[in-house]
Amino acid sequence: MQTLNLPSGQTIPVLGMGTWQMGEDARNRQSEIDALRHGLDLGLSLIDTAEMYGEGGAEEVIAEAVTSGSGASGNRRSEVFLVSKVYPHNASKRGAIAACERSLKRLKTDYIDLYLLHWRGSVPLAETLDAFGTLQQSGKIRSYGVSNFDLEDMESASQLKGGPGIVTNQVLYNLMRRGIEWNLLPWCRQRSIPIMAYSPIEQGRLLNNQTLKTIAQKREVTTAQVAIAWLLHQENVIVIPKSSRIEHIEQNRAALELKLTAEELAALDGDFPPPTKPILLEML
Ligand SMILES: NC(=O)c1ccc[n+]([C@@H]2O[C@H](COP(=O)([O-])OP(=O)(O)OC[C@H]3O[C@@H](n4cnc5c(N)ncnc54)[C@H](OP(=O)(O)O)[C@@H]3O)[C@@H](O)[C@H]2O)c1
Repeated sequence: MQTLNLPSGQTIPVLGMGTWQMGEDARNRQSEIDALRHGLDLGLSLIDTAEMYGEGGAEEVIAEAVTSGSGASGNRRSEVFLVSKVYPHNASKRGAIAACERSLKRLKTDYIDLYLLHWRGSVPLAETLDAFGTLQQSGKIRSYGVSNFDLEDMESASQLKGGPGIVTNQVLYNLMRRGIEWNLLPWCRQRSIPIMAYSPIEQGRLLNNQTLKTIAQKREVTTAQVAIAWLLHQENVIVIPKSSRIEHIEQNRAALELKLTAEELAALDGDFPPPTKPILLEML
């Protein structure tokens, strides 16, 4: 698996697995666990989650996938790069520490590799960063970052004590949502802060696009794979598609091998033009 370097010195895989909407319905639990385990078998060792997903349910599904395998695939914690997020309303000094401890319990682990503020709320950012620093010092998190931060948020965060410790910004980024290419992505690139691109296939809405379909047909892959491969072509970007289906997990993993030609990239630019002016960061 290709990796990027975080400013903290950790390496992070460029492709992982999302878990939004996992842990919400007991009927889907086994397929979610099986999909995550299959992804781990294929080397998709980055798992993205949040205390919000299934109100803790997604973290419990992950724990089962990672720590309760049988035989040789017993506890695989050491091979996994775990990302979780704190709700903004829990992001006070004491609140974030308590939220992290609850996540650790659900995840059945004693550390989270990367802990993010899910989006900016009313708690002063300095307080959240203070909590993140304390969590890092106690070894409960290896590093920390933010999510859904636009350029101005990143700029103000970087001025705060603890701000330089922010190692990533997880944002909505896919062919339909290229606004960050105007200023946020270049700003992060200049500082070697990787962007984590969420909703890479726009939660399925990109799958019916004709340009994607045409490229997919010609290359004998799926439209989802082309959309993911396009993101993997962008420098300094980590991609976290979510799937609870083994077939899709296999496709998403294989997107890593799909190199788009200059002609295909130009066709995608034609259909999904890059921004020509600042666009406010969108959120799903
Ligand atoms: N920080 C934030 O605020 C934020 C916001 C949104 C998402 N996220 C993170 O980013 C992850 C990904 O985003 P997302 O879940 O919103 O959307 P997404 O990954 O763009 O799309 C997920 C949807 O696409 C389907 N799918 C996945 N692979 C497919 C394939 N190869 N072919 C066809 N369909 C496929 C999935 O269905 P199946 O399960 O049936 O395959 C699911 O319905 C989330 O799970 C979450 O971890 C973060």
